Amino acid sequence: MNYSTTIANEHFDHLLLNAGGIFCESVDQLEKIQHAPGAGAVMTKSATAEKRAGNPNPRYFTYPDHHNTINAMGLPNLGIDYYLDYVLHHQLTLPTILSVVGLSEEEILANLKKIQASGYDGLIELNLSCPNVPGKPQIAYDFDTTDHLLDRIYSFFTGHLGVKLPPYFDMAHFDRIAKILNQYPLAYVNAVNSVGNGLVIDPETDRVVLMAKGGFGGLGGAQIKATALANVRALRLRLKPEIKIIGTGGVTTGRDVYDHLLCGADLVSVGSQLAIEGPSIFQRLEDELEAIFAEKHIESLDQVRGKLKRLDEAE
Ligand code: DHB
Repeated sequence: MNYSTTIANEHFDHLLLNAGGIFCESVDQLEKIQHAPGAGAVMTKSATAEKRAGNPNPRYFTYPDHHNTINAMGLPNLGIDYYLDYVLHHQLTLPTILSVVGLSEEEILANLKKIQASGYDGLIELNLSCPNVPGKPQIAYDFDTTDHLLDRIYSFFTGHLGVKLPPYFDMAHFDRIAKILNQYPLAYVNAVNSVGNGLVIDPETDRVVLMAKGGFGGLGGAQIKATALANVRALRLRLKPEIKIIGTGGVTTGRDVYDHLLCGADLVSVGSQLAIEGPSIFQRLEDELEAIFAEKHIESLDQVRGKLKRLDEAE
């Protein structure tokens, strides 16, 4: 299959990348994704202005079924200068997306100003949806704040920007966020971040599994697939075509990648299952996807992308 895909000025030869937060905190980890067979891009860990240790351990838990996770990482990262140096000065094999975040609007703006001043011309992802910093709400659940922030960003910013969104669960919220995002020259949206503030209980001890936040944490893995697909589909139906979509959530098999494509994803990222299996997962998923294309006699991505059918439409 020809997987050739473009977002803004970046060209991708494969569809899959690491989801934010997974295998992307250190140069050592990032390099493993750069060189993973089947990987199409690399996402860096969301960077704050200063490096952060994150929340106390245990802060990441894999369910015994090996397909689901809950985390309360709390944005451990090595700081914007570290990741900016990586994308500017390392020999990168794959298109690399620089992810930024901030604990305040001013910090976000300062990070973007620093990136712009550096001359970096690649894709940037603004994380509007970290659920794990105690006392800090997920920005993109506050529609007025999101609109105001994007307005301030685009008063000076000329780079290629995407936004990472939290999952929405109400049709009125899909309408509302899409209407806001359509006002701006965004390169893409990434849907979805982890499903915030779930709670997992250890049946042996009757205790929570995470230290931070009383055990509340962001859910990932197979359990969030239907939510992720709904968000990709709902956004694809509402966003202007210039805004591309990275589909994230619930990918453990090639069929899951295929379903994200049907809903309209341009690229697909893998989080929990990448953490469980390691970077060899990209080739496995691509091989499974190829098998589906062969079985269905699909010869081009255009035959799949966004082609999900409703039951009241002709087959
Ligand atoms: C963290 C968790 C997330 O789900 C996310 O998108 C960003 C950051 C974290 O806790 O570090």
